[in-house]
Amino acid sequence: MSKDRLYDALLDALTATFGHHPGFRATHAKGMLLSGTFMASPPAPVLSRAAHLQGQPVPVLLRFSNFSGVPATEDGDPMASPHGLAIRFALPDGESTDIVTHSFDGFPVATPEDFLSFLQGIAANVATPPDPLPLQTFLASHPRAEHFLQTPKPAPSSYAGIEYFGINALVFTNRQGEAHIGRYRIEPLRAEPALSEQQAVAMPADYLQDEISARLGRGAVKLRLVVQLAAPGDAIEDGSIPWSRSHDEVELGILTLDALVPAGEQQSAQQRLDFNPGRLIDGIAPSDDPMILARERIYQRALLRRQQP
Ligand code: HEM
Repeated sequence: MSKDRLYDALLDALTATFGHHPGFRATHAKGMLLSGTFMASPPAPVLSRAAHLQGQPVPVLLRFSNFSGVPATEDGDPMASPHGLAIRFALPDGESTDIVTHSFDGFPVATPEDFLSFLQGIAANVATPPDPLPLQTFLASHPRAEHFLQTPKPAPSSYAGIEYFGINALVFTNRQGEAHIGRYRIEPLRAEPALSEQQAVAMPADYLQDEISARLGRGAVKLRLVVQLAAPGDAIEDGSIPWSRSHDEVELGILTLDALVPAGEQQSAQQRLDFNPGRLIDGIAPSDDPMILARERIYQRALLRRQQP
């Protein structure tokens, strides 16, 4: 199968799973957009020469989201997890660069080909009548996918109270040409406890959005952007395998979330914006992990589809 056909088939499989919701993202359909500022920390330029990491404040747009491709998914629904956090950095030269993360340390699979088999299995499993066999067969030979499905993903008490992971490794290069491989993590300054299952089902449909609005009303919200560096033996090419947390990390900087994008502009701005993990700039490049380049093309195609009437 050609790459373009593979990427189209992935989008078809997402639509088969979640249904067609014109204008909305095929996955992470429900989201909210915030504006703020990123300020790089002193170690950031030592790791990378990227323009936003040199110590000047940079405007950012951030989108918190729920995993599901169904826009009406309630925030406490299990299909809302993993939650997403996408960030766009507006650079001084008018360019921009993005980070796209989710709240689980790992992905079900390592390659787009395997993700297609996984999604097709899920689509068959939710079809009428359901056919569970393709998913069962896939999971039997893909233990990381089984782990992803089986691991509890409790509903957070706040979008800003949990960790988010970049999953796919990148190469960070500084002015001296020194390169390091790492994965992004975004974390609250102080972690907040998740909800129990009983609490989650009792929460209002938009409780995560309401919580962020209320929190911003009390003042700015801060998150820390970290790069987890690869240790010898860490899986560079396989985002389904988490890395040890005991190895070196570099704090890239602090994200300060100041305000919600005004209600009247929320939906149109979300629909116009195209966060893309492949939107990279000098000083940050894809690693041998095949997913960054695949996701770059898939998200571009997804944008074209969702902009069609
Ligand atoms: C082959 C693997 C993947 C496929 C096929 C895929 C597919 C998609 C698609 C179609 C969208 C909507 C894009 C748009 O319309 O703008 C999307 C968004 C998103 N994906 Fe993925 N994805 C993959 C891997 C990942 C991984 C590894 C992560 C976790 C880091 C992730 C997290 C997200 C998030 C958070 C969004 C929402 C971004 C936003 O707020 O605009 N995806 N994905």
